[in-house]
Order: sequence, then structure tokens, then C-alpha cells
Amino acid sequence: MKKETRIAILGSGNGSNAQRITEYFANNSTIKISTFITNKKDAYIVERAKNLNIPCQYFSKTDFYSTDNVLSYLKDLEIDFVVLAGFLWLVPQNLLEHFPNKIVNIHPALLPNYGGKGMYGMHVHESVIANKEKESGITIHLVDQNYDEGKTVFQAKCQIDETDTPETLANKIHSLEYEYFPKVIEQIIMDSNNK
Ligand code: GAR
Repeated sequence: MKKETRIAILGSGNGSNAQRITEYFANNSTIKISTFITNKKDAYIVERAKNLNIPCQYFSKTDFYSTDNVLSYLKDLEIDFVVLAGFLWLVPQNLLEHFPNKIVNIHPALLPNYGGKGMYGMHVHESVIANKEKESGITIHLVDQNYDEGKTVFQAKCQIDETDTPETLANKIHSLEYEYFPKVIEQIIMDSNNK
């Protein structure tokens, strides 16, 4: 069996899930967070990486879509598995081909509802509240060439109360994400190593 599974986490924003996942695996001898990657130089995930002592590499739109720079970087680090945690661009074809069924995303709603281009972060929670939904939740899914359409691996729900606002719903969703995302990543990796 392979010695360890190396993960790269891609994020465009705050990076709180990236931090939570890194802390969850900190003492794991077989699963290691090797790097963060961001497409936003000034995103807070860069600061979190520094505090966590994790390398964080910035790549531009050109790097992602017109070169093999990201793929080469991942190959150099011998990355086995890619996690999108608040990463807001489509994953380019060269990465999808190199990591078949090994790229996972978290979405802050119950897909297929409230997914697709432009549906991210607070936009999702604002729409859910505006539509007076009674529940929302998280979806963890494999990544393909479309926004939010890969195979669903896991969902968890929360109730929405009449007093909830987009902000309070975001807090509920983040709690679910912190609780389940690291565990689901661990399970997917264990299952794929046992195949
Ligand atoms: C998370 O809630 C994640 O589900 C969402 O962005 C947030 C990132 O927070 N992702 C999407 O909306 C993807 N369509 P974080 O940067 O603090 O982890």
C-alpha cells in the first residue's frame, strides 16, 4: 500500500474549511495536507496558510486555463487528492484528467438546488432565505467540468427557522461543514485506497 495520501486544498476566500481540514489531519500519519492553492493573492486563506505553516501557492487565470503550471506543481508535490474549499472557478480539464474521482468540492446547499454559476457563499444563503425554504444543508460531491454537478457523496441538512437571516444560516452551514467535511474526505480516501 502507498505510504501516505497527499492533499492539496484550493480556496478563493476566507479559508476556514481549509484550516479546519488541516487541523483535523494534523496528527494523521497517512493523510497529509501538503499545500493550499489560491487564485486570489489577497484572500485570507493565504494568511491562514502562514499561521498553519502550510505552503500556499498563487496561480493566475492563465496558469489555470492556458498552461500546465498548476498540474506540474501538483505532480512535483506528489499530490494524490484535491479538495475544493470555497474555490470559485471551474477545474480545468488537465486536472480533471489527472485526478479522476479524486477532486472533491463542498457546496453550502442541498444540490441540485441552489447550485450553478454564481451560486456561492452568501449568494446561496440569501436565495434560500428569500425563497422561505424550511431547510438547507451541505453537499459534498465529486468534481466534473460543470459547476456543482459531479456525483454527490454526502449531504447533511439543517432546519431554517423563521428568524433566520442569511448570516445565521451561513453560521449553521459552516458548523455542518466543519463537522463533516474532514470526516467525509477521510472516508473517501480510505475507500479509494482499499479498492
Ligand atoms: C463555504 O461555505 C463553501 O461551502 C462555499 O464557500 C464557503 C467558503 O468558506 N463554497 C461554495 O459556495 C462553492 N460553490 P471558507 O473559505 O471559509 O471555507
